[in-house]
Order: sequence, then C-alpha cells, then structure tokens
Amino acid sequence: MIIRRNRRLRTNDSIRSIVRETIISPNDFIVPLFVVEGKNIKEEISSMPGYYRLSLDLLKKEVKELWSLGLKSVLLFVKVPENLKDNAGKEALNPDGLMQRAIKAVKEAEPEMLVMTDVALDPYSIYGHDGIIDAGKVLNDDTTAVLSEMALSHAKAGADFVAPSDMMDGRIFEMRSLLEDEGFYETGIMSYSAKYASAFYGPFRDALDSAPVDAKDIPKDKKSYQMDPANREEAVKETLMDIEEGADIVMVKPGLCYLDIVRDIRNVVNIPVAVYQVSGEYAMIKAAAQKGWLDHDAVMMEQLLAIKRAGASLIASYFAKEAVKLIS
Ligand code: PBG
Repeated sequence: MIIRRNRRLRTNDSIRSIVRETIISPNDFIVPLFVVEGKNIKEEISSMPGYYRLSLDLLKKEVKELWSLGLKSVLLFVKVPENLKDNAGKEALNPDGLMQRAIKAVKEAEPEMLVMTDVALDPYSIYGHDGIIDAGKVLNDDTTAVLSEMALSHAKAGADFVAPSDMMDGRIFEMRSLLEDEGFYETGIMSYSAKYASAFYGPFRDALDSAPVDAKDIPKDKKSYQMDPANREEAVKETLMDIEEGADIVMVKPGLCYLDIVRDIRNVVNIPVAVYQVSGEYAMIKAAAQKGWLDHDAVMMEQLLAIKRAGASLIASYFAKEAVKLIS
C-alpha cells in the first residue's frame, strides 16, 4: 500500500496552481532596448528575429506599450555611428549624445518607467572593447575614470540606474563615489558582477556592431576582463566585492548555462540578484522554433521559470514582452 502519493498534488490544474513555488510576473523583467539615430526606424536584427533597433520616436511608442503591459524597467543600449567612435569613449560623455537623449525620451514617454543604462565603452570604441586600449592591453584605471564620468552623464540625463557591464576592477567604488560627490545619491548601480567571457553574446554584437576588431595589437576577445566560464568560486568573490563597493543590484550573465552561479550567489547575498538571458540564448530558441524543432512559447517560459527558480530576483530578457503577453 502507498500512503504518500506525490501525484495527489499534481492531479489537476487548480491544485498545481496553488502549490506552485515559482511564478513569473511582469515585475520580474528588465527589457533591453537597442536605440539608433534617425526617425521612424525599426530595423530587425538579423541574428535576433523579432527584435529591433529603434529610433527615438519609435522608442517612445515601444516604452508606452511596455508600460501598458505592466513592465517597469528598460535597459538601454545605443548603436553609435562609426564616425563618433574612438579609443577613449569621448562620445559617451556627450550630454547630447544618443544615450543621453534616449534616457530623456523614455522619461517623456512614461515618467515612471525605470531607466537603466549600459555603461561600457564597446559601442563607442573603434576597437570594440569595453575599455581604453594601449599597447595591446585594456587599461583598467584609465577606463574606470571614463566609465564613472559616463555614469554621471547618464544620471544627469535622468537615468534611475546605471549598469556597468565592463568588468574592470574597482569601477563600482569609483562610480558610486563620483555619483555621491555630485549629489546623485538616488541613482542606483546595477553591477554586472559575474559576467562571463561567453560565446553567447554574438547576436548582441551584431545588433550594435560592437565586436572586437581583428587587428594587430588589439586583444581578439574579452577574456582579460570577463570571467572564465570554468570558474565558480570567483563569481562569488566578484559579487561580494561589488556589493562592498556600493552595488545596489548584482547580476549574473549569461543565464541558462550559469544557473549554478545564480544559486551560489543567491545563497550568500541579501540584495537583488539579476540574471541576463543574453542574445545568443534568445537566438537559439528563435532558430529552433523557426525550424519547427521546439515549441517556442513553452521553451521560453520554461527557461524563464528556471532562471527565476535558480534564484533570480530580476531577469533582463529579450522575451520580456512576449512572455508577459502570454501570461496576461
Ligand atoms: C557590452 C555588453 C555586452 C552585452 C551586454 N553589454 C556584450 C559584450 O560584453 O561583449 C551582451 C548582451 C547580450 O548578448 O544579450 N559591455
């Protein structure tokens, strides 16, 4: 005779609903958005089917729609015109640059939408690196000085959170100190604390045309600053250091392949942990679904659920809008 029957709690949809441990809601998401110069532009990113680069006018429209769906935060990335790129990220500090105008556009469209901004030099770098290059190396301290000014510039334009995605050492402390000195004590920092040197960022680099260039004395990858996918303990160290330096939200990136890291970090920190389900993860699901090999919506929801179950408090995802439409 069986007394303990686990299947009793799986008998029908009602009982499954009331014992469910993890639920996806619009409040879980951060929506990444790609912005370009121009008017009335909505360009599909070839390696990210169904995802677009938007000009500021259409960005505003998109933000209104996202808000109406219950989504409350966006993460902005800009595609910088080639002629404005250099080695020092000068354009990143332009108070009237594309990012600074995009921040204002979002706030005009929907004042309560939280605006988070990417802070790293790669979209602005002629070399496609997250920092300043000298003699074949990515300089740490010179880069953090520029990144701090960049964060301040975003705060001045109205960003609610700055999100440094560069993995330089000491940048959170430097950024926090400058923001405090300048009176921006309410501007938060979401730190990409455990960001791996992953091959899953390919489609994103297509979207912004920001891949490292193939040239003499230019590092061919980002392994001297982003983390080695083989390392687990190091992710906890990186994250605890960012919290000490003043991060309000920490992040693990990519998502699905790094859920062990998410759980390790969730178990030791007491601030929100964001997870970035990156462009390559999006592209894989889209491609398999286009071929008819996977059920798009079911796989999308299963992956989002897995990320949250692993310990994510927030998920930056290109699926945010589709997922929220599906559950509403
Ligand atoms: C740039 C940045 C990258 C991503 C977010 N910010 C690419 C990189 O580090 O090369 C990747 C996001 C994605 O793949 O969706 N610092």
